[in-house]
This record gives sequence, structure tokens and C-alpha cells, in this order.
Amino acid sequence: MSDQYAYLRGEFVSLDNATINIRTHGFLYGTAVFEGIKAYWLPETGQMSVFRMVEHYKRLIQSCRILRLRSPIDAETMGNLTIELIRRNQCQGPTYIRPIVYKADLRIGPILTVENTKDDFCLFTVPMDGYLDTSKGLKVGVSSWRRLDDNAIPARAKVNGAYVNTALAKTDGYLSGFDDVVVLTNEGHVAEGSAMNLFLVRDNQLITSSITENILEGITRDTIIQLAQQELGLSIVSRPIDRTELYVADEAFFVGTATELAPITSFDNRPVGDGKVGTISTKLRDLYSKAIHGLLPQYSHWLTKV
Ligand SMILES: Cc1ncc(COP(=O)(O)O)c(C=O)c1O
Repeated sequence: MSDQYAYLRGEFVSLDNATINIRTHGFLYGTAVFEGIKAYWLPETGQMSVFRMVEHYKRLIQSCRILRLRSPIDAETMGNLTIELIRRNQCQGPTYIRPIVYKADLRIGPILTVENTKDDFCLFTVPMDGYLDTSKGLKVGVSSWRRLDDNAIPARAKVNGAYVNTALAKTDGYLSGFDDVVVLTNEGHVAEGSAMNLFLVRDNQLITSSITENILEGITRDTIIQLAQQELGLSIVSRPIDRTELYVADEAFFVGTATELAPITSFDNRPVGDGKVGTISTKLRDLYSKAIHGLLPQYSHWLTKV
């Protein structure tokens, strides 16, 4: 028996009993939206803290709007339940938090708006350290799978079913010997990584794909933009990126809640810069690590302490 809890159907239950019916709409059609949030142990105060929780729940509500999901609870209540679950699970190290709003009725037919049907909210946590190895630099390939389009399954919403696209791209990348992949839009521009946003450094300027390039509007992307501008005085451009800009970049790195900041040292077997982890990537990785662990007092508003 697990000693861990989850939140399901309006109550905290043992993780072992947190199961759903096989006829659940969200399982049949992928009609669910989720967030990936991380909590960390703060060394200075000896407590857990959730990083940018408010922004994650704001995005979850936006995903609900796109998918016509009616969450039974608001963002503030989701936040309170998250804190309570971390307490109950006695989390004491890096923890991944997965809230989901899903179509909960047992119904055949992929229609989103049906009267008297139920959408529900659930939540669980898992310990997570090192989703990707961020120390040595990643070998990345451009995937032959294209990113989902805003007019097909919007990347702006974190839709469960959309992660089939991620899984195809990431798996085929692994099987070809890459640590991860970059996916292109249907127009052939760089969208993002399999489940992370991408930054390039060219001539001391940070470049990242604009939010109209079928990317998830990443919260870590926003964190890195703020740290780069405010702490390192760098300028940032958000614009369409050509595939071959990957090959001529001085530095490159992925960012995401699970990924944190992972430097990239090659694209399609061509070294990025001198093939070593770059100095701007290293500085930003260290700043990010300090921010999530509460070591940058000027960003304490990003932390929700447990
Ligand atoms: C497709 C995709 N892009 C980007 C990201 C990074 O977003 P965030 O920094 O908000 O975790 C994620 C991670 O959840 C993702 O799944």
C-alpha cells in the first residue's frame, strides 16, 4: 500500500485507489487539460515551495476555456489543494505536481458541449529530479514530425491528447540516438522541443520562437526572459526561427518546468558553437536554480511556500 495521497472526485484518497472508469470521456478521447508544476525544498528556510503556482493555474484555466471544460473549482482552490497534498505526501525534495481537468462523464461521442455532463479535477504528485541531464549538454535532432497547428489541436492549451504528437517526436528522436528533438511548424519554422521551449544565443542576443509559432506559452520561458533581461542585461527577441539558425547559433538551450534549463551542444550532429555548454546558458541555468530554491530574494513573489 502506498503512503501517498491523490485528489480525485472531490476528496483526498490513497494513490492506490485513485483510479477512473475505462468509459471516462477524457480517457476515450484525450479530452482533458493538465499542468506540470514543480515544488522544491528551500535550503534556507527548510520548507517546500511551489514555483510560479499562480501562473500555472492561470494557464490551466485558459486551457479549460479553449477545450470548453468547466472546472468544478477555481484556480485559488486548486492552489490550496496543491499545498494540502504536498503536506499530506510529506514531500521534502523536488516534486512534480500534475493537476488535470478532464471530461469525467461516461459517454461515447467526442462532443465537448453536452448539457448535464460533468467535468472534474484531479491532482497527484511524484518525486522528480533530473527529467533531462542538464549538466553535460544535449544532443538534439530536428524531428520529422511536425508540431500540431493552432487550428488542429492548439499547442497554447496543454491538452492531454496533444501529447501523442510529443510522444511520437520524442520516441523517434531517442531511437535515432538523440537526447531530445526540436519540432518544426508546418511552415518549417522552429516551434519548440518535445515538451519544452527553446532559446538560441546569437551575438549575445537571446532568440526564442514567438507565441504564434504553435508553442506552449511556457512559464519557464517567461522566467528565463525576465532573468536574462534583469540579471544579465541581455536583449531578447521573440520571432520566427529558421531551421538553419540552429546550426549557426553560438549557444542553445531548452527550458521547461520539468526540464528546468538544459543546454544543447549539438543539433543534427552539428556542434552548437564550440560544442561545449556556453557561458550564457551556464549563467542562466545557475540563476534559474537559485530562483526555484528561493535564493534570489527579488523573485520571492514566484514562490508559494507550503
Ligand atoms: C509542449 C511544451 N512546451 C513547453 C513546455 C514548457 O512549459 P513550462 O515552462 O510552462 O513548463 C512544456 C512543459 O510543460 C510543454 O509540454
